[in-house]
Amino acid sequence: MKQNIKTIAHKAIPLLLLLQLLQIIRTNAKVSSIIVFGDSTVDSGNNNHISTILKSNFEPYGRNFDGKKPTGRFSNGRIATDFISQAFGLKSTIPAYLDPMYNVSDFASGVCFASAGTGYDDATSDVLSVIPLWKEIDYYKEYQKQLRGYLGEE
Ligand SMILES: *[C@@H]1O[C@H](CO)[C@@H](O)[C@H](O)[C@H]1NC(C)=O
Repeated sequence: MKQNIKTIAHKAIPLLLLLQLLQIIRTNAKVSSIIVFGDSTVDSGNNNHISTILKSNFEPYGRNFDGKKPTGRFSNGRIATDFISQAFGLKSTIPAYLDPMYNVSDFASGVCFASAGTGYDDATSDVLSVIPLWKEIDYYKEYQKQLRGYLGEE
């Protein structure tokens, strides 16, 4: 009997987490912005704007994207972070920080610092001259400054 109670307690923890997540979704808890760091799985086009051969701004990438446009996402269409953003009631695609088409007003509700081919170790990003993780963080700090200027300290 004791054994059973322990087993139930163990299973209850993930269930609680799930219920909390559902609660967040149900109450429209305020997620004001989605900030993305990472590699090709979540790069929404930063590599288009750096000097690397690791790009995906040509067909067949983007063939199922709005307007059949290759965006620099390593995907036929949107990527997971775009869907997550939309699920939180934010925009349906997360813009790349280095894309000159966008500015801080676009980035306020979501921005992507990811760079395809990067890794946790600088030796990884060096291979194809992509953005190392520390640089993604530097860009994030720069973004924080711009955002303060745009929306104020609070
Ligand atoms: C951002 O770009 C839009 C459209 O080009 C422009 O209207 C707006 O003033 C810009 N915002 C900032 C804060 O630079």
